[in-house]
Amino acid sequence: MSRTIVTMPGDGIGKVVLPEAIRVLDAVGFEAEYVEADIGWEFWQKEGNALPQRTLDLLAKHPIALFGAITSKPKDQAAGELDPALKDKGFVYYSPIVGLRQHFDLDLCIRPCQSFEGNPLNFIRRTVEGFEEPKVDVVIFRQNTEGLYAGVEWTDPPAHVKDALNTHPKFKRFYDVPGEDLAVSTRIFTRHYTNRIVKKAFEYADKFGYSSVTICEKPNVIRETSGMMREEGKKIAKEYPDIALKSTNIDAQMMWLTKNPEDYGVIVAGNMFGDIVSDGFAGLVGGLGFACSANIGERCAIFEPTHGSAPKYAGYETSIVNPTAMILSACMMLDHLGEKERAGRIREAVATVLKEGKVRSYDMMKMSGSPDVISRGAATTTQITDAIIEKL
Ligand code: NAI
Ligand code: MG
Repeated sequence: MSRTIVTMPGDGIGKVVLPEAIRVLDAVGFEAEYVEADIGWEFWQKEGNALPQRTLDLLAKHPIALFGAITSKPKDQAAGELDPALKDKGFVYYSPIVGLRQHFDLDLCIRPCQSFEGNPLNFIRRTVEGFEEPKVDVVIFRQNTEGLYAGVEWTDPPAHVKDALNTHPKFKRFYDVPGEDLAVSTRIFTRHYTNRIVKKAFEYADKFGYSSVTICEKPNVIRETSGMMREEGKKIAKEYPDIALKSTNIDAQMMWLTKNPEDYGVIVAGNMFGDIVSDGFAGLVGGLGFACSANIGERCAIFEPTHGSAPKYAGYETSIVNPTAMILSACMMLDHLGEKERAGRIREAVATVLKEGKVRSYDMMKMSGSPDVISRGAATTTQITDAIIEKL
């Protein structure tokens, strides 16, 4: 059966890695029609909108998409790069990927961090005898639409907001701070979405055989929001007697993840802590070149590498960036579509290439990125994909 997949290469190396993932999907025999959608800096500059309505319409019709990366810049810099005809017309830059998550209510962000044997970037730990390399197999479930990133914030909050906040006894000491010296960012959790992320985490653990789900928040201090997630965890855990419920604080978790990463399976967190802990674990398994992710809602799902557009490598005549994060994101799309066998074959091919260690990106060879890494033995983007395809 053929499907339509929307592709959004976006900016910079997004344009490089996305076509590589499609080559791999073709090679594994996945049949689909790909429709490219406009997103990113070019459309901000030309149209004053990095996420044009036609892209939203296309996704509403074909709700499965691969996304590369976009370039975001601070508001004033963005305004300065607008087409002169559009300047001072009230256009404001918003990150299109954040826009997509909100528009399509992509509330579940899933970020697997799994070490592949033979990857020289894997985390190693010192022991009395020498070194050991713990196997990391963690999947982070990050709430993607609420919390500290929901955007409900002010500098110099309006008087009625201040008055409302002042009904809380702990706000008293902030009340007389001059407006321009007072910034407030809210952290809103709703039970519906908190329950959903925790529930999906347990379902995932159950389906893929993980023995624990860890709620990683800070309920001892952030009692209401973190507390709600912990409560939902306790409730849902009762339905899964074979899966251990653990609870960690985000700060302690960042320390433990390098001490005993093998003790964690599925981890659930709110938006910001999920962002932090997933970058932490990604660092143990090779970093941005390997970090894949899925943004999933009830009616739409978008799969993307965690990395950005890496502008400094975008203009290379021969690309040196690692396409693996994008390829593994495409595997997550296959999983989502029920194409487990094909996803498994791709992961096995990636694993074999890493284990053999003959084809390695510059960062895997401890080089800093520059065009001459190729002459010093680093593989090009295309060579890495070719090696994976050969194993298929
Ligand atoms: P970045 O992820 O683009 O790059 C950081 C560094 O990581 C790069 O300089 C490079 O050394 C390395 N790197 C990234 N991807 C790699 C790959 N596939 N293979 C090998 N090395 C890789 O983050 P940065 O530099 O902070 O941001 C650049 C632009 O990307 C900004 O405009 C930012 O707003 C945007 N961005 C977009 C994201 C998205 O599209 N979801 C996520 C993060 C940043
Ligand atoms: Mg991040």
